[in-house]
Amino acid sequence: MHKIIEECSIKLRVPKAEKISKAMGVFYNPAMSINRDISVLLLNSINKDMLQIADPLAATGVRSIRFLKEMDKNKIKNICINDYDKDSIELIKQNLALNKVQYKNNKKISIKNEDANLFLLNSAGFDYIDIDPFGTPNPFLDAACKRISRGGVLAVTATDTSALCGTFPNACIRKYWALPKKDAIMHETGLRILIRKAQLVAAQYDKALIPIFSYSKEHYMRIFLRAEKGKSKVDDVLSLHRYFNDAGPMWTGALWDKNLVNKICINARRDKIFNKNKELIKFLKIIKDESEINSVGFYDLHDICEKNKIKNMQKKDAIIEKIKKSGYKASETHFSGHGLRSDIPLKILYSLTKIIIQ
Ligand SMILES: C[S@@+](CC[C@H](N)C(=O)[O-])C[C@H]1O[C@@H](n2cnc3c(N)ncnc32)[C@H](O)[C@@H]1O
Repeated sequence: MHKIIEECSIKLRVPKAEKISKAMGVFYNPAMSINRDISVLLLNSINKDMLQIADPLAATGVRSIRFLKEMDKNKIKNICINDYDKDSIELIKQNLALNKVQYKNNKKISIKNEDANLFLLNSAGFDYIDIDPFGTPNPFLDAACKRISRGGVLAVTATDTSALCGTFPNACIRKYWALPKKDAIMHETGLRILIRKAQLVAAQYDKALIPIFSYSKEHYMRIFLRAEKGKSKVDDVLSLHRYFNDAGPMWTGALWDKNLVNKICINARRDKIFNKNKELIKFLKIIKDESEINSVGFYDLHDICEKNKIKNMQKKDAIIEKIKKSGYKASETHFSGHGLRSDIPLKILYSLTKIIIQ
C-alpha cells in the first residue's frame, strides 16, 4: 500500500507505514527532509558545476529527484541512482515519472540495481557521493573514498549515534577506532570521531578529507568532506587527530568552511523553495554563527550549573552578550539548546558566570 506525499518541490509515492523503520518496505523518513534540504543547498553553493553525482543507497529516489528538480540547471552533468532492493528500483522509476522526469534514453540519469560497493567500484568515479545508510556508514566508506574525485565532496550520514555518543563505548572502539564519552558535549565528540574515521579510510589512498559542513541533529550525524589529493595534505589532516575531553582520537580541526556556510545561509534565505522553512533557516543561522568561532567543544550551561550547584544562572543570550563584551567570541550551538560556543577559556567563563548569577 502506498500514498502520495509532497517533500519540498516534489511529489513522492511512499509506502504507507505505521512506523518509520527498516521493515517498512522501501524506506522513507520525512524527518530527514532537512538532511536533503541541506544537501541541495550545499551543492548549489559550492564553486563547481557539471557534477557527476552518485546516490548509491537511494530507497525511494527522493534525494536524487530533489537534486534534479531543485539544483541549478548547470550543476548536474549526470546522476546515478542505485539501490540493491528491486522494489526500491520500481518505486524510483515511478517517482521519476510522477515528477515528470524523463529517465529513459536520458544520458543525464542512470538507474542501477546493484550492491552499493560494486556500483561504486565499477564506476569511473564521482564528484559527489552521498552515503545515506541504515545505521553506520562503515560498509561503504572504503569504496566511496576510492571513487570520490579530486576536489569532490563525500557526504556521509550515520544514525548509530548510540555508539558514537558513548552509550556503547566498545561498539565505538570497534566501529570507529576511538573512545567516545557520554556527557554534555557527546554529540560534538561523536561527530568528530565519525569525521576521523572517514579521514583514516581515505588516508590509505593518499586522499585528505577536509570537513566543509558538519552537524548532528535528532537521531543522526551528517558530514560533508572535500577530497584533496596529496601525501602532505593527508599528513596535515592526521596531525589534527587528537584526544579531547578524555575522548578520541578525534578530528580537532574546523567542522565548517565558514565561507561556504555563509553562502548556504544566503542561498537558503533567497531561495523560494527554502526561505519559508523557519526550522531550516534558524538551524543554518546557528551553524553560521558557530562556524565563525575556532573551538573544539562547547560550554553546556546545565552542566556548569550542575557541577557548581548553581540554581539561578542568567539566560544563555545574556551570557553570550557578556562574553562578547569581554572581548571573546560567543554564539549558540546547534548541538544543544543549553550550550554555547566560545573561545573564552573556562576559567574566565567561570568567573564571568559567577558574576552574573542572580
Ligand atoms: C536509509 S535508506 C536510504 C534513504 C535515502 N537515501 C533517502 O534519502 O531517503 C538505505 C537504503 O540503502 C539500501 N541498501 C542497504 N544496503 C545496501 C547495499 N549494500 N547496496 C545497495 N543498497 C543498499 C536499502 O535498500 C535502503 O533503500
